[in-house]
Amino acid sequence: MNEITTIAKDIYYVGVSDSDIRTFDIIMKTANGTTYNAYLIKTDEGVIILDTVKEEFAELFFEKIEALCSYDEIRYIVMHHLEPDHSGALPELVRRAKNVKIFVSPLATNMLKSITHSDTMDFEVVSTGKVLECGEKRLRFLSTPNLHWPETMSSYLEDEKILFSGDIFGSHYYDDRLFDDLVGDFDYAFKYYYDHIMRPFKSDVLNALKLYKELDIDIVATLHGPIIRSNPQKYIALYDQWSTKSQRSGGKKIVSIFYVTSYKNTKLMAQKIYEGIESIEGVIANIYDLSALDEPSMLNILEESTGILIGAPTINGDLPRPAWELLSCMMLLEKRGKVGGSFGSYGWSGEAPEMIFERMRGLNFRVPIEPLKVKLIPTQEELRLCYDFGVEFGEIVMGKMVEITL
Ligand SMILES: Cc1cc2nc3c(=O)[nH]c(=O)nc-3n(C[C@H](O)[C@H](O)[C@H](O)COP(=O)(O)O)c2cc1C
Ligand SMILES: [Fe+2]
Ligand SMILES: [Fe+2]
Repeated sequence: MNEITTIAKDIYYVGVSDSDIRTFDIIMKTANGTTYNAYLIKTDEGVIILDTVKEEFAELFFEKIEALCSYDEIRYIVMHHLEPDHSGALPELVRRAKNVKIFVSPLATNMLKSITHSDTMDFEVVSTGKVLECGEKRLRFLSTPNLHWPETMSSYLEDEKILFSGDIFGSHYYDDRLFDDLVGDFDYAFKYYYDHIMRPFKSDVLNALKLYKELDIDIVATLHGPIIRSNPQKYIALYDQWSTKSQRSGGKKIVSIFYVTSYKNTKLMAQKIYEGIESIEGVIANIYDLSALDEPSMLNILEESTGILIGAPTINGDLPRPAWELLSCMMLLEKRGKVGGSFGSYGWSGEAPEMIFERMRGLNFRVPIEPLKVKLIPTQEELRLCYDFGVEFGEIVMGKMVEITL
């Protein structure tokens, strides 16, 4: 796409399309490619550039800028996000536009150098409340961290009512027509982007929405995919809905037990642990056989659960794959405040429960109880221990304080 699209008077799209990309950030599929959106604002006191593009597309980005202004006219660059898909052309832009000041969020300062390898950039740190006044334009900065990197921020062009949101509200969806009312149906891409990029940061999304709700927004100019101008409130409401915790359990805390088993020994343990948890008031226990759960279901269950217990036998000194898969999909979820624990039957070495435990620790779960291990077929006495383990875990989820001896 070589044309320069006008977003509003004196506001231009200088982004680029990447229609051939099929995998983004390792974890996402992009069926028809994506766009790296960047914007240029003209004022009678100079030009502001908002974000850049992926390095391999820099030439087209510069061609678009050159068609609109000279490099000497560029006074400011606003970087809402420093991931290379948006900062790739920044070092070259700064080489060409010699006298620019860059605006970034506080957490971007130590990243800026690691990304650009330049010491000479003139930058200013900005937070909510700070306004950049340039000619007749007023660009208000909004601190919106963790969407989806620590340094992300948004900004709002006051008179034009344009929210430059950053990656939030983005879609990996390429369509030259650029505006949401002109492109094809990108709803699936909008949700897919949320699920893979923003879902692990639901609390931060809700914090950002609080700031956005104070604004009168006509256009959401995101960093990927369609610019939203037909009904921004619809898309904002979807983010609100997806990020707000479900109240389904009626205030009770959910503990989910996941197990893998070959000879039902770990399953027997899981069932007794379940009974122990269920004996605690205020907790709802659920039990799932991992061999019959697909990833979207795992994600939903994990997300709703305050307590997560995973049981697995040790197979060839390792943890069987279904349990690894469950643990690895935590990458797509918010981990704050979750309590974890592990158990399993084993034959001689019994590494699996510790592996689960260590991974949970790595995920910043609270893991207050040592893994519970039973050699081969659990005895009646061992099943009682499983019950007690469940009782203790349920009590901890309900707020009982324990000393962590690890
Ligand atoms: C293929 C295979 C490999 C195993 N490797 C180990 C091992 O490395 N270490 C160990 O402690 N137990 C090992 N075991 C024993 C199981 O962990 C043990 O039988 C356990 O009770 C199975 O629990 P389950 O009935 O819940 O599957 C292995 C079992 C199988 C079938
Ligand atoms: Fe990003
Ligand atoms: Fe991005």
